[in-house]
Amino acid sequence: MSVFFENTWIKSLELPNRSVRSATWTGLGDEKGYVTDRAVQRYRELGAGRIGLIISGYMYVMTNGSQLPFMIGNYEDGQIEGLTRIAEAVHAEGGRIIPQIVHTGVRANPKAFRNGEEIWGPSAVPDPVTGNIPKEVGKSEILSLLEAYAAAALRAKKAGFDGVQLHGAHGYQINQFLSPIWNKRTDAYGGSIKNRYRFLAEVLEAVRGAVGDDFPVLIKLGVHDFAENGLLPEESVQVARRLAEDGIDAIEVSAGSAASPKDLAPIRKVKRIPEDEAYLADLALYIKQSVPVPVIAVGGIRSLSTATKIVEDRKADYVALSRPFIREPHLIRRWMDGDTEPALCISCGGCFETGLEGKGISCKVERKLREKQEKE
Ligand SMILES: Cc1cc2nc3c(=O)[nH]c(=O)nc-3n(C[C@H](O)[C@H](O)[C@H](O)COP(=O)(O)O)c2cc1C
Ligand code: SF4
Repeated sequence: MSVFFENTWIKSLELPNRSVRSATWTGLGDEKGYVTDRAVQRYRELGAGRIGLIISGYMYVMTNGSQLPFMIGNYEDGQIEGLTRIAEAVHAEGGRIIPQIVHTGVRANPKAFRNGEEIWGPSAVPDPVTGNIPKEVGKSEILSLLEAYAAAALRAKKAGFDGVQLHGAHGYQINQFLSPIWNKRTDAYGGSIKNRYRFLAEVLEAVRGAVGDDFPVLIKLGVHDFAENGLLPEESVQVARRLAEDGIDAIEVSAGSAASPKDLAPIRKVKRIPEDEAYLADLALYIKQSVPVPVIAVGGIRSLSTATKIVEDRKADYVALSRPFIREPHLIRRWMDGDTEPALCISCGGCFETGLEGKGISCKVERKLREKQEKE
């Protein structure tokens, strides 16, 4: 059997193959970030696609940590019911799902704040993307953040999810603490990479304390900011090693943010040729060589042959895709059934449009094709 379709484990979680749906905002929360019926339906559909592990879209752990519109939240206990519906829908279809939890820090969208909240970040310096100048978090705000992450992880467990993933990439709060772009602190949280890691170490400790030793806790780690004065892979290796020592169960390796040039952003254009695929796989390998925990590669992976080669070459243990599952939620099932043509996704990024309009993300190319067929 192909190494890609092998049964493996991440801690207590048994996975039937090495495919992962990388976290993807669906734009299907309601105004307060509560789960809608359409969100449950969307995850049910993914659950039926035989994906090894589904990671939800990023969910905000505090109301001043939200960002894109109609983002689902995990910041109060009233949300457990809706979250439970998502977990149950995926499980009913035979899938496994973990939520990704985030505080977006200085990249939060203040227009979405409801209670006059402040923007919080590691340092009061302007964000190169939004221009936001955050309040530099002090000890009490840091404590609130740690409590929020821990409470969100516990809600995920209570809702029946199979684990939780910390969002430590793409220029959000955890990445901001790790990165000299946003972290100019001179206290124990700033300066050396050991100090810049401190916030993440405390988040992990708080989350682990809340969910216990058996519950899988993963991270999506931005290992290269691809920006001037940004976080470098040599530093991220040290972070990854510490994460492994501190009990992380798997590391998904991403890189870049909206502060990077477009061609080095986490979501890039990919031509439908093998040479253009897997644009972050070498960074995944770089991290994998230094840590004993499973590594997940992400970024532009479009074909079963590339996915299999990544695993065979031991660049990563798992392979995550995002955009291809928007166009084809049942891509893995298609591959398992013998149709191994690469994903139909052309990586154009058009899937955001309907999400921003409040209709939930959808494939623009599919939409256009349908409209054309209807006219004919
Ligand atoms: C519509 C959309 C929403 C996304 N939402 C998230 C998210 O919530 N959390 C996250 O870590 N990455 C998010 N991403 C980035 C993807 O997880 C992934 O890292 C990136 O798209 C590269 O993978 P791909 O080439 O397979 O799409 C999103 C990407 C897209 C296209
Ligand atoms: S709009 Fe469709 S083809 Fe374009 S990136 Fe999104 S899913 Fe892929």
